[in-house]
Order: sequence, then C-alpha cells, then structure tokens
Amino acid sequence: MSNPVLLALQNVRHSATAPASPEAHAIAHLFWWMLAVGGAIWLLVAATAIRSAFARRGAPGDDGLMRVSAETHTRLQRVVIGATVVTGVILMSFLVFDFSVGRALAAFPAQSLTVDVTGHQWWWQIEYEDPNPSLSVTTANEIHVPVGEPVQFKLASHDVIHSFWVPNMNGKRDLIPGYRSSIWFRADTPGVYRGQCAEFCGLQHAHMAFLVVAQPRAEFTRWLLQQRTSGATPVDSLAVAGQQVFMSGSCALCHTIGGTPAHGTVGPDLTHLASRLELAAGTAPNTRGYLGGWILNHPSMQPRTLMPPNPLQPRQLQALLAYLETLK
Ligand code: CUA
Repeated sequence: MSNPVLLALQNVRHSATAPASPEAHAIAHLFWWMLAVGGAIWLLVAATAIRSAFARRGAPGDDGLMRVSAETHTRLQRVVIGATVVTGVILMSFLVFDFSVGRALAAFPAQSLTVDVTGHQWWWQIEYEDPNPSLSVTTANEIHVPVGEPVQFKLASHDVIHSFWVPNMNGKRDLIPGYRSSIWFRADTPGVYRGQCAEFCGLQHAHMAFLVVAQPRAEFTRWLLQQRTSGATPVDSLAVAGQQVFMSGSCALCHTIGGTPAHGTVGPDLTHLASRLELAAGTAPNTRGYLGGWILNHPSMQPRTLMPPNPLQPRQLQALLAYLETLK
C-alpha cells in the first residue's frame, strides 16, 4: 500500500482508554478507578452470594422458621451496618473524585486557539477564527491542532442536536441549535485521532465522523498558512475542463472554492479538498476512486445526504476529478 492517504489512515487512533491529552488522562484515571473498585465489590458480592447459597443451614423450628442465636444476630447486624458505612464512604469518595475531574475539565485556559465547529446533517464545518476575517480558514471534517497548546472548540448546530466527541482527547459535548457550547483539550501526543458524532442525529449519524490531526507547531502553522490560500488555479487542460464542469454544473451552487465564483455554503468548503484524508465525514478515504464514486453515486456511501445526483459523462468525471485533485 503506497497511497499516502491510506498509509496515514492506518494509524488513526480512537480510544478513550488511550488518552493523548491531560483531559482524557483525567477521565481515563477516574474510569479505571471506578472499574477496579466496582469490579472488586462485584466479585465480593458474587462470592458472598455463592457462599451463602451453599452454606449449611440448621434445622427449622416447629413453626418451620429458622432461628439464629443472639450472638449470630448481633454479628450479622454489625456486618450490615459496616457494609452500609463502607458503601457510603466509597460513593462519597467517587463523588469528590468526579467533581475534581469535572472542575479540571471545566477550567478554560485564558490563552488558547479557538476553532468554531458547526454540526450539519451529516458533516462538520470547521472554522479557524482570526481578528482579520480574510485570514480565517474554513474547512470540513478535519481539525488540525498544534501539540502542547490548549484549543477551545466553540460548538453550534445548523439543524439538529449533534455531539462532539474525540475519545482520546476529552469527553462529549452536545452541539445544540440556537445555543453555543464549548469544550477544549490540549493534545500532547502527535498523531491522527478519530472523532465521532455521539448523539443520534438522523439516519447517517454513524457516518458523521471527523479527524483530529495533532502536529508540532511548525507543521500546524504551515498547514494553516496553506489553508488560507485560494484554491489552486488549474494549469493542465484536463483540470481546466474539470473546473468548467464544477462551475457550470450544480457543484458551485452548494460548495465554495476560494478564489473562484463558487461561493455556496450548503455543503463543505472544497478550497483544499485534496489536502484532507477522508471524504463524506469519515465515510471513505480521500482517494480518486472513492471521490469518483462519491460524486456519481453518493447515496451508496451516505444515503439521504443533501447532495443532488450528478449524472456526469465519463470524460466530465475524469476532468472534474483531475481538477479536484489540484485543490491541495
Ligand atoms: Cu450528528 Cu449524530
């Protein structure tokens, strides 16, 4: 396998038990403690239940009821009181532990990069704010973050409730129409991480994923500068023809390509489509074959998506693909 996209996607991480940020570490820590203590209690209860099921009983009295001696009664009473106190102490300890993790997660750092995330059925719009609007960046389904720096995500929804979740980085936070929520994390380990919508939002909810690419500051800055540029101007004749297919067909009505007349905002911004690793919110790798399949027959990959059918002639499709591949 030599395709760089497929190679990069081989190492995508997606696990709440492999934390790559201090926030996910705190959550995983709490989880393992709860699992260990809860598991130990479960084993103890199960062992006690099995032991009592096989315990020898004395003979019942004339009235058919079991009698226990006064000493046994007192001993059992102590066991019950002791177990109740221990249960209370364990629950209170976890309450305090849980609050402390919650407080740590809620403490937004003053200095942080801000990324606006808007949920759509079924894709993620990603915007990097800048005081100078001409320097802000819009992309889709792929978030790049610099390693070691806190990043704040301002969350909103275009239609229904979605939920932003990158298991290796932090817990979940809902995206609610008409309301801005926010969450943050600081990626400490470089890598590509998978995020997933965690709130049922329609038939393609499971096909609403995204990637978080955590990279060193210099690489991130290079990426951001590249994303600020306009879409590439095609030079070879096939790609030029492909640009005409894009602009004259229905594509330009819904998608934006910076530096061209295409300014649609219904679908994802495609200015740097070829720089992204996946298509259709994590549904398929961004390779020529899948891209062609997506354009011609997207209901086979993400049924009920808003994109209209595109019955293209083979020559038109080849030209369009050649053009889209220039959008690095
Ligand atoms: Cu969006 Cu589930």
